[in-house]
Amino acid sequence: MREFILYSRKGRTSGDFETLIDAGRLDTVYQCILTSMFMSHRIRRDTRFHAILNGPPEPPGHLTVDGPTLYDVRVDERTWEDILRKVLSGGEHAGVSFEKRAYQSVVSDLSGASVFVLEERGTPIEDADFSDHNVFIVGDHVGLPRAEEKYALRTGKKLSIGKARYLSASTIDIINHYLDKRGV
Ligand SMILES: C[S@@+](CC[C@H](N)C(=O)[O-])C[C@H]1O[C@@H](n2cnc3c(N)ncnc32)[C@H](O)[C@@H]1O
Repeated sequence: MREFILYSRKGRTSGDFETLIDAGRLDTVYQCILTSMFMSHRIRRDTRFHAILNGPPEPPGHLTVDGPTLYDVRVDERTWEDILRKVLSGGEHAGVSFEKRAYQSVVSDLSGASVFVLEERGTPIEDADFSDHNVFIVGDHVGLPRAEEKYALRTGKKLSIGKARYLSASTIDIINHYLDKRGV
């Protein structure tokens, strides 16, 4: 199983928004869902995506997109804008859920998994040891808050995909590509 956790500082925690970008950059969440969960004409059934939303009106919230149970989706932004609006308003969509839960509670549930905090100055991905359950924690456009990084590093390790700084969604895409090539 692969899991990606995006820490979104401002992501809105209700469905009453006009556009994803106005909703505390839920467009970044959409882009990360795309690169976490989709290949060409295929859903990654071995993957789960989490976003911790810390924006108004009732932070924190935990959004999950679950590969094994995800159905009735396309890859366009409009589809995901509708799904996010529905789920954040208390509605349902197969494989997508939302609950009131904070980052540290989600991370503390990962016992047994190999946890990696994505950071430019971490261990190069080529030198890392992976298991059959790998969790990757990624910051949003501002980056992961220091306290939350420290919390994950109690059991996790810093991992780097290079010296350049990439978008959160690109970081996830590069990790998926690398693990696919390595057959992890
Ligand atoms: C756009 S970057 C954040 C930029 C933010 N201004 C900062 O200084 O952290 C978004 C996230 O992608 C991940 N990331 C970006 N480039 C990376 C790299 N070269 N190696 C590992 N992770 C990276 C990190 O988790 C980062 O928090």
